[in-house]
Amino acid sequence: MKNKKILLIICGGISAYKSLEVIRGLKKRDVSIKTILTKSGKNFVTPLSISSLSQEKVYEDIFSAENEAEMDHISLSRWADLSTVVLASNKQVFLVPAMNVRMWEHKSTQDNLSKLKSYGYKIIGPEIGDMACGEYGKGKMSEPSYILGTIENYFKNIEKNKKFKALVTAGPTKEFIDPVRFITNKSSGKQGYEIAKSLRDNGFETTLISGETNLDPVEGVKFISVKTAEEMFRETLKNLPTDVAIFNAAVADFKVKEINSEKIKKSENLDLKLEKNIDILSNISNHNSLRPKITIGFAAETQNLELNSKKKLDQKNCDWIIANDISDKTIGFDSDDNEVSIFYKNKESEKLLKKKKSLIASEIVDRVISELN
Ligand code: CTP
Repeated sequence: MKNKKILLIICGGISAYKSLEVIRGLKKRDVSIKTILTKSGKNFVTPLSISSLSQEKVYEDIFSAENEAEMDHISLSRWADLSTVVLASNKQVFLVPAMNVRMWEHKSTQDNLSKLKSYGYKIIGPEIGDMACGEYGKGKMSEPSYILGTIENYFKNIEKNKKFKALVTAGPTKEFIDPVRFITNKSSGKQGYEIAKSLRDNGFETTLISGETNLDPVEGVKFISVKTAEEMFRETLKNLPTDVAIFNAAVADFKVKEINSEKIKKSENLDLKLEKNIDILSNISNHNSLRPKITIGFAAETQNLELNSKKKLDQKNCDWIIANDISDKTIGFDSDDNEVSIFYKNKESEKLLKKKKSLIASEIVDRVISELN
């Protein structure tokens, strides 16, 4: 963790004293620390004890004129490698909650927690044990050694994954009939974009090859925009070799045999001749020299999910098929949620229950990481 920058926000709570031990641990590991102490946090730890340990000034009122000139909440969040000036942050956020067991178990806390997790925030703890209020249960803040270990592992994993390359295809392809008309598939691209984000966040050098969607390109990822399946295939080939390739795109299975160079008038007879499009996934997973170490396909099925997915796994010679049941309207396509089953070539299949696409993405990426390491 040497030379990493961490911004710590200490809020009000009896366990705030543990943050002093965390600061000592981070200092020992040569991390630069800046600290924000909230007004209620000040009831539990003093700015003096924090600044003595961190050897840095403590930000108590980040909107004060003095701080505004020196470093405001935006630049504080940009400064850090690990930041908790939450809204302005473009860094990994860790939350270390502590509260009474009933408060922790309350539905509103749990609902908020799922929301925070869906933003990609990582939650450390809480643990089960005796609490300051005299009750026993889940709500105790994790011990400083555990907090430090988790942060250390986070940086270590990213460092380890930096040697890996990843490629993701996403969104629909368009097969033109004439300059204004085309055949396409239904696809928002959301799941593929979330996978690319999660790969990036985990340290992978990531390429995202995408058909046209309404989504913004993913920052920190090599982004290649394509229209047709042919283009997507060419760009995929150009970006090999890669350690893992995840084919999430909804590729049009058919293309028009002869594209009209002029707009077809409605007075003309339309005789549309289609031919099979190239199967990008099959081509890459059967490539002699450039096959990625892990090749993953998606399957959108309306029936016989297991049978059809296992068939695709075999026929397309890939390592995993991640299957969506698209007959369920509450998941997939335009929804922010998804529920998938993963069928593996070499092990038992598993189901990732309904959750935000960002969380499905990070569960998929976790599995990729453990397979690569
Ligand atoms: N795929 C691909 N190139 C194609 C068609 C599909 O790379 N021309 C990939 C998709 O990105 C997905 C997987 O193959 O990862 C399965 O796509 P799907 O549409 O479910 O399967 P198809 O092969 O098109 O079979 P069918 O439409 O008959 O179910």
